[in-house]
Amino acid sequence: MDNSTSVLFVCLGNICRSPLAEGIFRDLVERSKISKHFDIDSCGTGGWHAGSAPHPGSVAIAREHNIDLTQQRSRKIVQSDFERFDWIVAMDASNERDIRNAAPTGFPSERIVRLLSFSEQTDLLDVPDPYYVGGFDRVFELVENGCNGFLHHLSPDMTSAWDDS
Ligand code: 4NP
Repeated sequence: MDNSTSVLFVCLGNICRSPLAEGIFRDLVERSKISKHFDIDSCGTGGWHAGSAPHPGSVAIAREHNIDLTQQRSRKIVQSDFERFDWIVAMDASNERDIRNAAPTGFPSERIVRLLSFSEQTDLLDVPDPYYVGGFDRVFELVENGCNGFLHHLSPDMTSAWDDS
C-alpha cells in the first residue's frame, strides 16, 4: 500500500487491550473517511491465545460502542511485523520493553510508542490489564483517548496525503 500508514497495536495476550485498540482506531479512521490510507492490525508479545477471538469483556464493551471485534483472532508478534509496520503501539511499559527487545537493529526507536503517551485526558502511561481485574469500560475509555491522540499526532504529516484521495 503506497502512501499509507501502517499501525500495529500490541499488548500481552492480544485478547483484551490491543483488539480494542485495533477496533477503536479502525472505527476512528473509517468515520474520518481516511481508512484507505491505513493498514491496521494488532498482536501480542505472547502467543498463549493464538487463534482465539477477543475476550468477551472486550467484545461486549466494543459492541456497546457499535464496534465489532468478533472477526479478530489473536496472534503473536513476528519479525516481519518490523518490516510491515511504520508504527508499533504498545499498551504498557512491559509490552514496550518486549517489543524493543524483539526489534531488529535499525528499526527506528521513535516508531515504538506507548498508546497513552498520546492521551491528554490521563496521566496514566499504561493501559491497565483487564484480564486479571476487569474494568473493561475504563479500559475502553483510556484506549479511545489514546487512539484519538495518536491519530491527531499522525495528522500533521499525513494531512496532504489524506486530502489527496
Ligand atoms: P491483554 O490481556 O494483554 O490485554 O490481551 C491478557 C490476556 C491474557 C493474559 C494476560 C493478559 N494471559 O496471561 O493469558
